[in-house]
Amino acid sequence: MLLPKCSYKKLTGIVVAYSLFLVACSPKEVSQIDLIPKPANMKINVGYFKVDSNQIFSDESSQFIHYIIDDSFDKSNPEGYELIVNDQGIAVKAGTDTGLFYARQTLRQLLTDKGIPYVDIHDAPRFPYRGLHLDVSRHFFPKEEILKLLDIMSYYKLNNLHMHLTDAGGWRIQMDKYPKLTSETAYRTESDWQKWWDGKDRKYLPEGTPGAYGGYYTKDDIREIVAYAAERHINIIPEIEFPGHSDEVLFAYPELSCSGKPYMNGDFCIGNPKTFTFMEDVLSEVIDLFPSEYIHVGGDEAGKGSWKTCPKCQALMKKEGMKDVDELQSYMIHKAEDFLISKGRKLIGWDEILEGGLAPEATVMSWRGENGGIKSARMGHDVIMTPGGYMYFDFYQADPKTQPYAIGGYTPVKHVYSYNPVPVDSLTAEESKHIIGVQANTWTEYIQTADHLEYMMFPRALALAEIAWTPQEQRSWQDFKPRMNANIPVLQKMGINTFTLSDEIETVMKVDTVKKQIEVVLDAEKYPAEIRYTTDGTTPTLSSTLYKGTIAAVKDSAYIKAAIFRDGKLQGTPTEKKVDYHRGINKPIHYNSKLYSGYMAGGMNALLDGYRGGLTYLDGRWQGYLNDLDCVVDMEEVTGIHKVSIRFMQLIGPGVFQPGKVELLTSEDGENFIPQGVVPTTISNKDKDLSFQEYIFFGDWNARYVRLKATEVNNAFIFTDEIVIW
Ligand code: ACM
Repeated sequence: MLLPKCSYKKLTGIVVAYSLFLVACSPKEVSQIDLIPKPANMKINVGYFKVDSNQIFSDESSQFIHYIIDDSFDKSNPEGYELIVNDQGIAVKAGTDTGLFYARQTLRQLLTDKGIPYVDIHDAPRFPYRGLHLDVSRHFFPKEEILKLLDIMSYYKLNNLHMHLTDAGGWRIQMDKYPKLTSETAYRTESDWQKWWDGKDRKYLPEGTPGAYGGYYTKDDIREIVAYAAERHINIIPEIEFPGHSDEVLFAYPELSCSGKPYMNGDFCIGNPKTFTFMEDVLSEVIDLFPSEYIHVGGDEAGKGSWKTCPKCQALMKKEGMKDVDELQSYMIHKAEDFLISKGRKLIGWDEILEGGLAPEATVMSWRGENGGIKSARMGHDVIMTPGGYMYFDFYQADPKTQPYAIGGYTPVKHVYSYNPVPVDSLTAEESKHIIGVQANTWTEYIQTADHLEYMMFPRALALAEIAWTPQEQRSWQDFKPRMNANIPVLQKMGINTFTLSDEIETVMKVDTVKKQIEVVLDAEKYPAEIRYTTDGTTPTLSSTLYKGTIAAVKDSAYIKAAIFRDGKLQGTPTEKKVDYHRGINKPIHYNSKLYSGYMAGGMNALLDGYRGGLTYLDGRWQGYLNDLDCVVDMEEVTGIHKVSIRFMQLIGPGVFQPGKVELLTSEDGENFIPQGVVPTTISNKDKDLSFQEYIFFGDWNARYVRLKATEVNNAFIFTDEIVIW
């Protein structure tokens, strides 16, 4: 469904005298203001100004509503505005049209049946770049859906839509000089990307083939999208992928690949001068269509393999004195930048453009964590933070068991909200100025429909909007949560198929090694939420303890089960968490096997820190290895032990498997180990669902040393979160 188009005409310098005869409704307490993003400074006063929506949505100043462009307004933040609502009416001041536009969005959000609450708002965004990205290649989303997203983005003050227009899934934008890009490779044999990609019949099809899946935007479509966005103060950033992810181009124009044949490569042949003619021709047409200062040229995940044996690429490397193929990619990105600068534009690329040498004025999108962004900012380059661990909206947003199939990962809205785009521990204040903004990315390998797309984007995009706009010190999850909940029906009214938030309970642990106890806090996305819980592993019922902000600290073991109750009924599946302040906590551990530096969890004592992991191996609690785990816990004295356990997770999509078995050995002297038992895995290595197995050993041992050996049998990762010793 497309929203009614509002008119956002320019509002310059209209000043109308205040009327002495204004209508204000009787003062009432304002209970809650659900603005997202939260303004930088806001004072709520008692009372409402009665106004009807037509007056707000009219662009003209009126008797009670005054829109003023004030040249003395803070020029360092041109999107800022001031909004005062009192019994005199509504007064809006800003330095620019954009500032007035954002004040209007705030008014739209403030409007209730009672009128507009009296407020005194002085607002401006934290970052100039507030972006949402959409992959329209893996699955195509028609123009109408893009316009709908632009409406919602503007309501929440997001100002850049990054369109990933080209990739192996299909080329999505009409190009006059290269008509085969759309006539030959905008359509394919299968709509479901995964089936198509993995299938034997992975083929592109000519436009017009009956039953073919695909689509593209004509130049008129693009002009319409760009204009519609501009009316909403949104910039469209086009992304054209170079030099990788270009299988579709190399099908239509195989002479641009190293092999010269279709269906062989995804990387352009950089040794071929025709590649650069293509790049400049395409970028010229793109520049003509998109007024965006920034043009995105991709740069991510090039395979680079074909360049190593391609005579043309090798000849270029030799001529230019390049040491490796990274420099070939860098050569191409430098050329792209030279071209864009010659046209008065700026280049953005994914963080791989650092490899082989960054182009002199490039802006970097840091997606493989923050390191690329940190490095670039230190070098004086502008950076947009979009790290996968927080900002990927194609990842799961709740327990995968309850969700449509996704690419993996786990970025629930609370986790998204926790992200601060400025890595304050790694950058100086001066370097931090290069962090110009933040973006969330929505890749669509597993997202086929507009409904599903909206479900993945919302309400996470509301968290993004607030991260991007609101000062860090003004943000808190507990404050955001009720406002986010209140915005769910708002999104629904605007026709968005939003995720309506999970019924899961989060259990947040705090291990206190001084008091020798574990404190547990429960939290839910839903607000308000009646949470009831047990600590003995039984299913909570209506008569179980009502959660009121604390649970008695756990000094030994608790098996917490918690759930939300609504209308007297348990919602969803209770969340379970085992909590043990066990005897192994903080004891020394020695590893006989290799650790994997990327997945150390809390470090060397991660397996004995009391913290259990959650649903993702990326939550900093799970330690991962690419080999057997063989470790020895030193209890520091001979100890009577009766139970030892260790837990592993399985999620075979990203290559995380259960070990084949776990063996327990004990020793008094650390030299002579006695085998005490073996527990095999009970989970099939074909089981695709996220699963956990606890390997438990019961006995009666006197030992100082406890050794666990977990056998890796799938040539993949194994991940464990905690060894528990009683
Ligand atoms: C990316 O996710 N390949 C930028």
